[in-house]
Amino acid sequence: MTHLECALCAQHFEAGQIHNLCPCGGPLLVRYDLPRIRSEWTRDQLATAPNSMWRYAPVLPAPADSIVSLGEGMTPLIRTPRLAERLRAGPLWVKDEGLNPTGSFKARGLSCAVSMAVELGIRELAIPSAGNAASAMAAYAAAAGLTSHIFMPRDVPQSNYVECKAFGANVTLVDGLISDCAKLVAAGCQEHGWFDVSTLKEPYRIEGKKTMGYELAEQLYWQLPDAIFYPTGGGVGIIGMWKAFAEMEALGWIGSRRPKMIAVQAAGCQPVVRAFEQGAARSTFWDNAHTVAAGLRVPKPLGDFLILDAVRASGGTAIAVSDDELLDAGLQLASKEGMFVAPEGAACIAALEKLLASGFLTPRDRVVIYNTGSGLKYLEAYSARFPR
Ligand SMILES: Cc1ncc(COP(=O)(O)O)c(C=O)c1O
Ligand SMILES: [Zn+2]
Repeated sequence: MTHLECALCAQHFEAGQIHNLCPCGGPLLVRYDLPRIRSEWTRDQLATAPNSMWRYAPVLPAPADSIVSLGEGMTPLIRTPRLAERLRAGPLWVKDEGLNPTGSFKARGLSCAVSMAVELGIRELAIPSAGNAASAMAAYAAAAGLTSHIFMPRDVPQSNYVECKAFGANVTLVDGLISDCAKLVAAGCQEHGWFDVSTLKEPYRIEGKKTMGYELAEQLYWQLPDAIFYPTGGGVGIIGMWKAFAEMEALGWIGSRRPKMIAVQAAGCQPVVRAFEQGAARSTFWDNAHTVAAGLRVPKPLGDFLILDAVRASGGTAIAVSDDELLDAGLQLASKEGMFVAPEGAACIAALEKLLASGFLTPRDRVVIYNTGSGLKYLEAYSARFPR
């Protein structure tokens, strides 16, 4: 790591210091000496690297002795031919992030953020969360012996609440959405000196999440797919993968071709889809956000301009699906392929169906869907279909 750079005004900040946002309000992105890394690190060296996301350590910020790992990353990329046939899709894979510690891709970001907290001597962490980020932070904080303060909506899935309590976190249930939780975290950080680990206000979660892009390239033998479907709440998965692709090109690992990045949202909370359709650079607050896909209930993502940039630059699109459509799609995947996925991941399957029907994608396209979490974390949502 050489420095951090503001994604809005390009101001530089020193590595090795504690940072949140740039004074201009922009999120900070980590920069590396990629030419030097390129001369010292080749793809072939991955053969003997750890079987976790830390196999990409040269492009991650934490030094080896600060790493807090529970085995996150290197999730399977599963070919789903029976589902593809049903949807009349071409080659289709699901990257199953539900197999991460705490059952979601949030483990990647929080492993990296908590590792950097250890590195920088931070002791108390606070996070507003739609649910899964809270579980992951509570787990990694426990593993590192740090204190965590969790603020999440009162109607968060029961799994997230019980996990956070089990990990020994201080949990506050809030009558409101993640945006209301964020205000309480900001106030608590002011008052008690906690460190704010909010999406993109903390610079290192995105570095963990970007490893989803490195892994996909490695698992597809460095040939990226034609389209990537990603369930978009805060959008850090998309922003992180987009960053990873640029870094891999600078390392000489991939060429300049990029997959179409497809941001999938829920009909009851689709600020990114609305901004995309209006041709706007930023989103506006989505009122009365509601969906069973709890991770997609983000009414105004902080990094909206970065999501929209990536989607547009890739020739992708943004699309919303209803709760009924996403639950149907999740059950279709479960019954066709034996994978029980989070409603957020299921939303991507419903979205694929729509984009095949509209002709935006064809059976010639190689498609990867990110299932960001395990269906087991969402028993309330799926139980609506299977009352006992
Ligand atoms: C299962 C799941 N999928 C997707 C998301 C959205 O993630 P991102 O912030 O990367 O858009 C979340 C966020 O809470 C989540 O828990
Ligand atoms: Zn700035």
